[in-house]
Amino acid sequence: MKVIALYSMKGGVGKTASAVNLAYLCARSGSRTLLWDLDPQGAASFHLRIKPELAGGARGLLERKPGKLVKQSDFDNLDLLPADFANRKLDLVFDARQGRKRQVQRLLGPLSDDYDFIFIDAPPGLTLVVENILRAADLVLSPLIPSTLSLRTLDQLSAFVRRPKLRDLTLWVFFSMVDIRRRLHREVMTQSFEQRRDVLRTFIPYASDIERMGVERAPVECFAGRSAGARAYRALWSEVDARLQSDG
Ligand SMILES: Nc1ncnc2c1ncn2[C@@H]1O[C@H](COP(=O)(O)OP(=O)(O)OP(=O)(O)O)[C@@H](O)[C@H]1O
Ligand SMILES: [Mg+2]
Repeated sequence: MKVIALYSMKGGVGKTASAVNLAYLCARSGSRTLLWDLDPQGAASFHLRIKPELAGGARGLLERKPGKLVKQSDFDNLDLLPADFANRKLDLVFDARQGRKRQVQRLLGPLSDDYDFIFIDAPPGLTLVVENILRAADLVLSPLIPSTLSLRTLDQLSAFVRRPKLRDLTLWVFFSMVDIRRRLHREVMTQSFEQRRDVLRTFIPYASDIERMGVERAPVECFAGRSAGARAYRALWSEVDARLQSDG
């Protein structure tokens, strides 16, 4: 089982859109896939038309077996562990327990035989829940909007994940919401492609079809499979999958 977290310190950069599309494409390729919506806003659950609600709220998550809270999505091989608005209190719930930074890892344990891939849609920020996610993940995929400050954000995140306790964690970044007509976007991307191996070559364009996922409540592939947005996500999943196989 591989745990892939979609995470950025910043909000509104495309974490949820990417988590939903990549988890869908992963499931469609035949892998048993779970998407865990760990953002109390519940946007990933909304996109998969599943009520963002857990029996027993945040405590229920810790006290019941997570497998019992999993819901089937409309798609083969794709399950969802829904969000719950009560998950906004997860920081406090985790903080009160022994092994406060290992709670997500502990919850994932019993799911490892049931899934080939578990995607986590992480909330923004650097909270205790996020630290839990970073400890539990094998791979963090981080969307980055090209801007003058984005390379600085990337340096901060790389420094954070290089801390000794997270040494097994791999971080790959991809550009998101790219407007290829803008010179600045092109320059920032070219510079980082030249300088860094951890930046994926596939980028996700700013595309109204991706934005429409919130209206259609489905992965972009399902309602606009020929669009630039759908094509970009297919290419992104191919690149991630190929790199995972070659990096082991
Ligand atoms: N490539 C894109 N092109 C156009 N719109 C996009 C794209 N990716 C995401 N969006 C839209 O931008 C908004 C933010 O995207 P999303 O929810 O995926 O970001 P996020 O990083 O998960 O945000 P948050 O930090 O609030 O969880 C949403 O309305 C989404 O539909
Ligand atoms: Mg989100």
